[in-house]
Amino acid sequence: MIDLSVTRDWSIFNAQAYLQEYYADIGAENLAILDFLVRTLRDVSPESVLLDFGGGPTLYSLIASANHAREIHFCDYLDSNLEQVQMWLEGHPQAFDWTAFIETTLILEEADCSKSSIVLRENEIRQRVTRILHGDANLSRPIQTDVSGYDVLVSNFCAESATEDIEQWRKFVRNITSLIKPGGKLIMSTLKGATSYGVGNDVFPAVNIMEADLNDLLINLGFDRTTIEIDSVPADRPSRHYQGLIFVTAIKAA
Ligand SMILES: C[S@@+](CC[C@H](N)C(=O)[O-])C[C@H]1O[C@@H](n2cnc3c(N)ncnc32)[C@H](O)[C@@H]1O
Repeated sequence: MIDLSVTRDWSIFNAQAYLQEYYADIGAENLAILDFLVRTLRDVSPESVLLDFGGGPTLYSLIASANHAREIHFCDYLDSNLEQVQMWLEGHPQAFDWTAFIETTLILEEADCSKSSIVLRENEIRQRVTRILHGDANLSRPIQTDVSGYDVLVSNFCAESATEDIEQWRKFVRNITSLIKPGGKLIMSTLKGATSYGVGNDVFPAVNIMEADLNDLLINLGFDRTTIEIDSVPADRPSRHYQGLIFVTAIKAA
């Protein structure tokens, strides 16, 4: 059922309210996301060129990625989100504080998580992120890039959190994954069984998908079916308008 109060006006997406709502603490959902990223990036070559598609105002996926990429490109649809990321990269005093996420990622990596190691990882992220781009999943060429295909593409809560229409969701995922080179890796998190999601007093659309929808779509889009791995966790608070989170990795057929 579609919530009638859902907005399609992205200009009212409040980056700070979003960060407060979903990233103010490391609950079970965020711990599961960080653990997924650490596990799936572990075998990625440090020579990879990685794209975070639809990263929003968030940096958490760059923390583990910085250890496994020569270069990271970051994109989002909204300039206001890109500004938040840019503020953090520039060390702006009002930028969102990702320290707890960095510390937790280092613990999950079984690495040293002292203050100096946290600062070291912050510096690594700042060095690895070489491009901040505008992206639109509705376009067959979603970003302007000279990279012919990314080695690794990370996309968290983007395609299914940008529409309530399942056909449009399929189109978004097709366009996003077209940026991956043959043999390249997709690392994606999605909402599961969602109707919408709240940001402050506003409600944004989400498509209601389950694991089988993702599996079928990725096979359709040319991912090697033997490489598709899907996992899920339940939502960590009853106020959420979704049942849980789905985590998927897959390799695009060569
Ligand atoms: C729920 S947020 C996810 C942000 C972040 N990846 C995270 O994990 O928290 C959904 C994101 O989708 C982006 N978005 C909305 N429409 C889009 C489109 N047509 N193409 C690409 N991204 C879009 C929004 O700007 C927003 O940052």
